[in-house]
Amino acid sequence: MGVFTDGSHEQVVFCQDRASGLKAIIGIYSTALGPALGGTRFYPYASEDEALHDVLDLSRGMAYKNALAGLDLGGGKAVIWGDPDQIKSEQLLRAYGRFVQSLGGRYYTACDVGTYVQDMDIVARETQFVTGRSVEYGGAGDSSILTAWGVFQGMRAASEHRWGTPSLKGKRVGVAGLGKVGKYLVAHLVEDGAEVVATDVHPKALEWAKATYPQVSLVADATALITSDIDVYAPCALGGALNDDTVPALRAQIVAGAANNQLAHTGIEKLLVDRGILYAPDYLVNSGGVIQVADEIDGFNFERAKLRATKIYDTTKRILELADTEGISPASAADRLAEQRMAEVGRLRTIRI
Ligand SMILES: NC(=O)c1ccc[n+]([C@@H]2O[C@H](COP(=O)([O-])OP(=O)(O)OC[C@H]3O[C@@H](n4cnc5c(N)ncnc54)[C@H](O)[C@@H]3O)[C@@H](O)[C@H]2O)c1
Repeated sequence: MGVFTDGSHEQVVFCQDRASGLKAIIGIYSTALGPALGGTRFYPYASEDEALHDVLDLSRGMAYKNALAGLDLGGGKAVIWGDPDQIKSEQLLRAYGRFVQSLGGRYYTACDVGTYVQDMDIVARETQFVTGRSVEYGGAGDSSILTAWGVFQGMRAASEHRWGTPSLKGKRVGVAGLGKVGKYLVAHLVEDGAEVVATDVHPKALEWAKATYPQVSLVADATALITSDIDVYAPCALGGALNDDTVPALRAQIVAGAANNQLAHTGIEKLLVDRGILYAPDYLVNSGGVIQVADEIDGFNFERAKLRATKIYDTTKRILELADTEGISPASAADRLAEQRMAEVGRLRTIRI
């Protein structure tokens, strides 16, 4: 994929500061709905090409996520090429902040893999176009709180669509990944009366589950989880959880989880439809996190952000209904609604004021 061959991004900016070792690419997919918002991934890519590929993919994904989340924000993302443990420094982050500032508000940055709220506090010393800051600086803090809340809302909507009730009481829900989001999700599920089965590769996460929720059953790994007798599968670890091996083996009737990019490749969404498994699209149900950090732009208000994240329930229902009436997969229905909003609301800016 190249910037011009792909042909869909508005702007891609390469930023270099030799002294600090900064090599960053900022990708702006669309500003149709407002300034592009998306985090900064700090990662030791194998090549410049790989970094570019990632930023193009991720910024496109953010445009769709922000559009469906009902935000007045476009889609963007940035990557910093390098090992954060080796090269992250005050001067590098501030140099990066100056490049963000130079875009004059076309792009707002935030945290992603390899960057943390404290890093955004440093970036913010050079730019006002940054969110996802620490609570001490008026930031939204840990975005996994509303991410988990939104996933729970998406799961409830899928349950209502499939079983006629949003309650997960008595349903067996398999959670793969007891990290920041998985832990909060387990709390919501237990409170709702679901039977939770979970797994994690990290012993500490399993110890947490045993100590906090002794009623949660733990299984050896994700394979054991998907082949066990579960009603709902919630992938909350890495991407690619739904692939040619896992989908045929899956026993759940619903998939709703926090992980990004759950569909390993194009065509998996059809495999899910063929197997009668209801898939609540990942970028829709996990948008509570971006809703939380986006709220910071107007001065953070947790209750307001939570209300917006609760709307993921309505949007999920709407998408599952659209998929049924149009005879398309929920993933395609989500893309269609996101594109529709970008076109319809984006068009309004052509009315000169
Ligand atoms: N944190 C957010 O606000 C947010 C927002 C949107 C999407 N997401 C996505 O949700 C997912 C989880 O995010 P997080 O913030 O909780 O991350 P995290 O790193 O805190 O948690 C991930 C957990 O998954 C476990 N894990 C890794 N590989 C596993 C495997 N093969 N089987 C079982 N468990 C495994 C890890 O040990 C860890 O406990 C990620 O895909 C992330 O991109 C997170």
